[in-house]
Amino acid sequence: MSLYDRWILPRVLDVVMRNREMTRYRAGLVPGARGVVLEVGIGSGLNLPFYGPQVERLYAIDPSEELLRMARKRAQSMPFPVEFFARSGEAIPIDDHCVDTVVTTFTLCTIADPLAALREMRRVLRPTGRLLFAEHGLAPDRSVQRWQHRCNPVWKRIAGGCNLDRKMDGLIGTAGFHIAELTVEYAKGPRALSYIYAGSARPA
Ligand SMILES: C[S@@+](CC[C@H](N)C(=O)[O-])C[C@H]1O[C@@H](n2cnc3c(N)ncnc32)[C@H](O)[C@@H]1O
Repeated sequence: MSLYDRWILPRVLDVVMRNREMTRYRAGLVPGARGVVLEVGIGSGLNLPFYGPQVERLYAIDPSEELLRMARKRAQSMPFPVEFFARSGEAIPIDDHCVDTVVTTFTLCTIADPLAALREMRRVLRPTGRLLFAEHGLAPDRSVQRWQHRCNPVWKRIAGGCNLDRKMDGLIGTAGFHIAELTVEYAKGPRALSYIYAGSARPA
């Protein structure tokens, strides 16, 4: 792993991911988590302040040791136990059907095999559980899509593997979820980066 990926990118992410638009999605989504919760790609822990009193325990996964270090610091004052795993979403170290809520925000764009990770999320969820997601991805407008496809190879290299052009609702459905609620819209910001898919899904 390069110095950029190991030390610089995590610090840049921690600052960039605090922007007001992303915070708005966190605030709308994360308080809906309840019971035993798994957050995939917790990053520096920016969702932590939005978890409510219905959460019993949080499992947090991220492959970046540096981001996990920041998240651990933020988790110190949480009123429920938080267990961290320096692992990838494609191989979640949790038994089948023992999670009530899976949370993923701005992460499916970066996971190398998002379908495998979503299938893992489905495996660990109880049949009555919910996946809560807020992700950026493929825009509906052809002109924006063209830019997303064109810029993707360079963007991916500088943004830690982030892809601009994944169709998130399609991936979630293909992984075996039924989408119960979905909001799709452009948030404020560059259109290639800001088409958001936010909502909830249940194991189909
Ligand atoms: C743009 S950041 C978002 C972080 C956090 N979810 C947030 O909302 O602030 C993308 C995150 O995905 C994580 N990530 C990358 N590959 C992953 C994988 N295979 N499994 C789980 N997380 C991954 C990165 O380490 C990073 O924390």
